[in-house]
Amino acid sequence: MTEAKIEAWLEEDRAFAPHEEFAAQANAQPSIYADADRDPVAWWRQQANRLTWASEPTTTLEWELPNARWFADGTLNASVSCVDVHVKEGRGSRVAFHWVADAEGESRTITYHELSRQVNRTANALIELGVTKGDRVAVYMPMIPEAIFTMLAVVRLGAIHSVVFAGFSAEALASRILDSDCRFVVTADGAFRRGAPSPLKPAVDEALTSCPDVSAVLVVKRTDGDVGWVEGRDHWWHDVVERQSDVHEPEAFGAETPMFIMYTSGTTAKPKGIFHTTAGYLTQVATTYHYVFDVKPETDVCWTAADIGWITGHSYIVYGPLINGVTQVMYEGLPDSGGRDRWWKIISEHRVSILYTAPTTIRTLMKWGHQLPASFDLSSLRLLGTVGEPINPEAWMWYRKNIGANRCPIVDTWWQTETGAILCSPLPGITATKPGAAMRALPGIYVAVVDNDGNEVGHGEGGYLVVTHPWPSMTRGIWGDPDRFFDTYWSRFPGKYFAGDGAKLDPDGDLWLLGRVDDVMNISGHRLSTTEVEHALVGHHAVAEAAVVGASDDTTGQAIVAFVTLKLSAEDAEKDQARIIEELRQHVSSTISPIAKPRQIILTPDLPKTRSGKIMRRLLRDVAENRSLGDVTTLTDPTVVNMIAGLMETHASSED
Ligand code: WT7
Repeated sequence: MTEAKIEAWLEEDRAFAPHEEFAAQANAQPSIYADADRDPVAWWRQQANRLTWASEPTTTLEWELPNARWFADGTLNASVSCVDVHVKEGRGSRVAFHWVADAEGESRTITYHELSRQVNRTANALIELGVTKGDRVAVYMPMIPEAIFTMLAVVRLGAIHSVVFAGFSAEALASRILDSDCRFVVTADGAFRRGAPSPLKPAVDEALTSCPDVSAVLVVKRTDGDVGWVEGRDHWWHDVVERQSDVHEPEAFGAETPMFIMYTSGTTAKPKGIFHTTAGYLTQVATTYHYVFDVKPETDVCWTAADIGWITGHSYIVYGPLINGVTQVMYEGLPDSGGRDRWWKIISEHRVSILYTAPTTIRTLMKWGHQLPASFDLSSLRLLGTVGEPINPEAWMWYRKNIGANRCPIVDTWWQTETGAILCSPLPGITATKPGAAMRALPGIYVAVVDNDGNEVGHGEGGYLVVTHPWPSMTRGIWGDPDRFFDTYWSRFPGKYFAGDGAKLDPDGDLWLLGRVDDVMNISGHRLSTTEVEHALVGHHAVAEAAVVGASDDTTGQAIVAFVTLKLSAEDAEKDQARIIEELRQHVSSTISPIAKPRQIILTPDLPKTRSGKIMRRLLRDVAENRSLGDVTTLTDPTVVNMIAGLMETHASSED
């Protein structure tokens, strides 16, 4: 189906009706919305019974904007709700993870009982290394089971994990370690990518040259490569963890004990340490996993195809699924490790029933052709999910038809690192769906679309998405920077949480997300700020000024386009153009991450600026997306942008 056909189809206002067959067995029934509306706070208190409490809370919500406390006088241990309870209640032999390696044929099966032993050993090892309650532990690991053992062991001790995506550079790792003063790092010597080992430990060693307070590094041996070693500081996992007792008596902590920090890009060059606390977060990830993914723990096999380095991995690989006691697939590799049919092999082999991924991956799989999934038995699938960016109707329809056999409901789940868990999504079987729409807020969640003045827009109108009531898994703030927390999220529309997303309500009142309205870009579902990339570019000795925009891209949603002025003379720059551009792309990649590598760099003698000296990013975005230029009258020199537009056409773009 083409975009135009989908548009026409939507014009006729056709949604996919609720799925009756599915609904008959669904965890969520239509009355759920009204049940929650009657008393949302009480409804959430009921949901908190999904956790295993050491002492039950007698309070539910204490709210003093922007600070929420949920279930504050209750006590619990997060890892007990995820692991111990299943063993204790007789589910120890159920598989928690089918771990599938990058290399075909290599796998591990981990039952809840085995998971419990491993978490306890890891917790005992961390104690030996000196980790205590409240300490921050950086986790810089590939997608291997030890990453999950580590996260659960850290929270078992009441310590705080800060998982840094293993694709981040040494510099990015160092700044995150320093920002939250992590004293411990857990890592691996390397990771596998399409069969090839790629080292990780060197980045840790480099990062730690500027982090003198890190006292211990625990290293999983994953590859055969040699690694640098600092005696006294570095410890092999197999030396320290494997000899530990597999018994560990968990302590109970207060419900508001900080649990983890996850860095994410804001609108400035410095990523924000979004932190989450224990019981509110766990309650909402468990509840949303139960209702949105409709999990049946005895029979489902769930696969959240994300990395533990992002919030999706935290909420829907680790905490939500484990509290629900489900069986999952955890996959180390890339979608084409071992061939472009790898995903379909995994799904058919493990009889995956619930698949959750990002639109950018769906578009990549789509490019590889529908013949590949068609040649596998995907009949085990019963529910599909998507997250990370607005999904274009064409990708949604492809997913529905070619992966879901027009049978599986699709849940388009809108949420953020800050929200901790899903806030907006259809409920499978009971909410009608439309290709590209997140449809509505979940039970117990209240959102609105407002105009510039904060007034709610009518059906058929667009504006900004806000959340109007506190929710259990909301971030408790930015690590070390409470003022920035208030300013960023709570000041734009007084009394409401401003998500940073544009949205519209269609004529039926259903919700569509339209992408960021700030300087945050969304590259393959990864958040990066324009300033962060500009900062990296300006850090290169040859660069005078840089302006970065996110331009729409068929596969990655948005791609980075950078406009750069050099310190060199025009002639020198002209001579060496291709080399300079490549060097700058590499520079950004190694300063931040390969994710941040600009798709295109335009060297220009000048940047378009307003009379007050601000770079006109809006115009540059128009240029980058080949749109006709709007109003240029506020520019100091309107000819600059026409010149840049000319340069765009003459420069061949450099793509990987
Ligand atoms: C931003 C949050 C939530 C886990 C992954 C990303 C965009 C997320 C959707 C969706 C449209 C979406 C928003 C949001 N986004 N899900 N279903 N439809 N946009 O987490 O890195 O914190 O990014 O991702 O723009 O603000 P994140």
